Amino acid sequence: MRVAALQHNPAYLDVDGNLDAVEAAVASLDTDLLVLPELFASGYFFRSRADVDTVAEEIPGGKTTQRLLKWARDLDCTIVAGLPEYTDKGLYNTAVVVDKSGLRGTYRKLHLYYQEKLHFLPGDLGLPVFDQIAGSGTKYRLGVMICFDWYYPEVARSLALLGSDIIAHPSNLVRRDCPRAMPIRALENHVFTITANRIGREIAGKEELEFIGQSLVCDPRGDVVQQMSRDETATLIAEIDPATARDRRITPHNNLLADRRPDSYRLD
Ligand code: ACM
Repeated sequence: MRVAALQHNPAYLDVDGNLDAVEAAVASLDTDLLVLPELFASGYFFRSRADVDTVAEEIPGGKTTQRLLKWARDLDCTIVAGLPEYTDKGLYNTAVVVDKSGLRGTYRKLHLYYQEKLHFLPGDLGLPVFDQIAGSGTKYRLGVMICFDWYYPEVARSLALLGSDIIAHPSNLVRRDCPRAMPIRALENHVFTITANRIGREIAGKEELEFIGQSLVCDPRGDVVQQMSRDETATLIAEIDPATARDRRITPHNNLLADRRPDSYRLD
């Protein structure tokens, strides 16, 4: 099956302009799974709560999810994409999973980074996984985590234990370490990972964040299948076989997940 990750440079708070630009970028894409960055149409480094309020949307009624649903139908693919979610309880940094059948579900970021904590509530939906079918008929199980979740190996491990073959990872990376860490997340869990990051800079008050690009796809051996540079805007495409993630034997005597010793681990 084919997977894709879009890397772009969205304009701060210009949701309509960003949606139009992404629509043009993916219009002729031939892929089974497309991953877009975290908060892909809103911008990331919010200058105030009022700014976040202008772009937060209900799911699935808001314009971003509606547009994603249209793209999933037009391209006949599954899309994972990040947006600021408005709810009666408050705002979440959320990723939706959509396909031609509609909204498959949402994941709300568990580990909020830096000033996200000023605006968003920590995720309260656990770690849902999604059973998807590619156009070729290939079945795969999809897990989702958002950006800084990579820093917590428990997230990717949990998604692997839940049977994920592929982890979609919408991101707005600003720390240099993640592109080095993702091959390890893929290796230690024997999964494919697809990190879709953004580039560019955003300023809030006296602070500036620079987004580091380098979107990448990793395979269950911990190899980087494809990677973009720090400054390009493009769509990365990779051909993968999700079935290869399912055989977690390391030697005839070792099975990655079955050999775990949770009785001896201290996780809290
Ligand atoms: C991040 O979690 N967006 C750094």
